[in-house]
Parts: sequence; structure tokens; C-alpha cells
Amino acid sequence: MPICTGFSRRWRFVVLGLVALAVTGCATGRLDATKPAGPNARDIDGLMRLSGWMAVVVGIFVAAAVVTIIVKFRAKPGDDPDELPPQIHGNRKAELTWTLIPTALLIFLTVVTLPTVFALAEKGDGRTIVVEGQQWWWQFSYDTDGDGQFDDVVTANDLVIPVGEEVNLELRSNDVIHSFWIPQLNGKKDVVPGRVHDWRISADEPGIFYGECVEFCGLSHANMQMRTIVLEPDDFDRWVAEQEAQIEAASVPAEGTPEAAGYDLFGTHCISCHVIDGVYESAAGGNANLASGIAPNLTNLMSRTAFAGALFDTYQSDGSLNVAELREWVRNAPAMKPARADNRQGMLDFSEVLTAEDLDNLLAYLTTLGSAPVLPE
Ligand code: CUA
Repeated sequence: MPICTGFSRRWRFVVLGLVALAVTGCATGRLDATKPAGPNARDIDGLMRLSGWMAVVVGIFVAAAVVTIIVKFRAKPGDDPDELPPQIHGNRKAELTWTLIPTALLIFLTVVTLPTVFALAEKGDGRTIVVEGQQWWWQFSYDTDGDGQFDDVVTANDLVIPVGEEVNLELRSNDVIHSFWIPQLNGKKDVVPGRVHDWRISADEPGIFYGECVEFCGLSHANMQMRTIVLEPDDFDRWVAEQEAQIEAASVPAEGTPEAAGYDLFGTHCISCHVIDGVYESAAGGNANLASGIAPNLTNLMSRTAFAGALFDTYQSDGSLNVAELREWVRNAPAMKPARADNRQGMLDFSEVLTAEDLDNLLAYLTTLGSAPVLPE
């Protein structure tokens, strides 16, 4: 059935084309390199557009040449089907044309791209923030008192920076190779264990810019997300002050309350991996239960917009706490985000360990950790 085969083949292409078109619509729209929000990303975007338009012009030229040749040299009625056209090996003019034009285009692209490549490799002249990638979340550490130690404020998932500043990020990895990418603020940069890579980011205006790990790093690579929260300088200072004040104010809950029961449960089940500055500090590094060293520092947990590698929002759109997902996360994290706790990667399943009352108490305690996030206007 040759006709039928040909028909279905054509349809196969149509269906494939439609599927490809549909898949392009699957993007969440949160990662968009075509909407730069700062000078570094804008430089990259400019180069991308330039090379894109050059490719369009070349593509049109090639397509026109192909169509012209097909039409002009097609077999005409009366032609001898067995007769071959003259066989010519090499045509200097043609060979030179299709060698020199692409060479010139590539040299041009190299010349205009190289200055940007070098400029982006320079350290930002603003503050430095240490970024640590690990399976499967990001940690951000700040030196707010200027003593060179990045231990004053530590967050996970939310990277908070002031607007207009060329922030220098020191990228490190605690386990395997990751790659740091916040498309609206700069390009991608690999995060390699045993090395420190500097990477600059800056934003023109306050806002929330989404990012993700873009180097395959294991089971939950796709769930290793992050957010950059860009604040006006005043708001940024307020955020730092609030973070520090919360650490100062950290205390053991009053006895007999659900919070106190949660605090005790934290000391039994969570402390081997998680730190809370000011109260539960012993887990840092040391004997932590994870291959990578540590789990997220939970100091000021409630001041973050997201948890679990930024997979879930801490607050719902009406501003209320996302208790349901936070509770479920504590109960059975691997069910919400694939992990390999047996291989010490990711959080354990506590569904057989914690009772409903335990979970309520733990949530009661966790929700006392920190105040609401400082958000851009
Ligand atoms: Cu970390 Cu992919």
C-alpha cells in the first residue's frame, strides 16, 4: 500500500510538527532569557538577537538559492532521463563564496562577542554573596558585618540582593557539578566541587527573578530551583536588619505549648541535618546526615518565599501560610520531590515516624521561625 504509506508518513510529520509546537508552550514562562532585567543579561540578549538575525538572513538566502536551483534545473519534458548533467569537480568561485562568507560572519561574531565574554567574567564591584549548590537546593550566605566571614545571614532558595548593584557571587558546590542560572540577570555558570567561580548579577529594578540548576545533577535536578528577590536599597537594609534581629531574638518556646513540643521534636528528628541559628546550632557541617554536608539552615524559615528547592511557595496568593504543603513536606518529603535519602541525598520520609499531633506541633514551632518576607513593591 505505497499510497497509504506515503499519506501516513506525511501525517506523521504534521503530527510531529504540532507536538513540537505544543511542547514549546510547556515552558512555565518563569525562565525567560529574552526579557533581560539587568545589564549583564542585556548584553547577552543583544548578542543573541544579533546572531539570531544574522542566522535569519543567511537562512532566507540559502532557502531562496535552493528553490531557485530546484526550479531552474528541474527535468523538463523531452529531457533524456538517463542523461547526466556535466560532472564538475570544484568551482573556485563557488567554493570561495561559501567558505569566505561564513568565515567573515563567524569572525565578525567572535569580534563582537569576546568583549562581553571577558566583561561578564569580571567580578561584580558590589557585595559578595557565597552560593552553594547541593543536591537539590541552593544556599546563600551573607557577610553583613564586613569581617570576611559569610556566616551572618544564611538563606536557602531565596537570594536577596539590592537593586542596581553588581553583586559578586562566589559559586561553590558541596557535591557534584551544578550550574547556576537566573536568565533575566545573567547567563549560566557551572558550579564545580572543589572550585570557586565568581559570577556577577545585577538587576535594574526591584522584582522576583526565577532561576534553576541547569547542569544535570541527579534525581531531582529539575527540582533544584531558586529565586532572586531584588529590593530597593532601603528594603534590602530592612531585610538584613530583620534577619539579624530574628537571630538575636531566637529562643526556646515557653514550656507546655505546642511550639515547645515542636521544638523538642526538632531536637530529636531534625537536628542531625538542620541548623537554627541561636537555638539549634550543632548540626552545622560536622556529623550531619547528608552526603553533601548540610540541609537548609532553617533560621528565619518564614521569611523565605519558598521551600524545598523553591518548588513550593511558603505563602499562598492571599498571603496566608501554605500550611498544607509545608506539613506534607515535613511528613513525607520524598513523595513531593524525588530524593534518595537512602543515599543521603534529600530529606527523609517521616510518615512512619511522626504522628499527626507531632506534625501539628512541629509546624507550630517551624512557623515561629522568622517574620514574613520583605518583598519588592
Ligand atoms: Cu543541581 Cu542540576
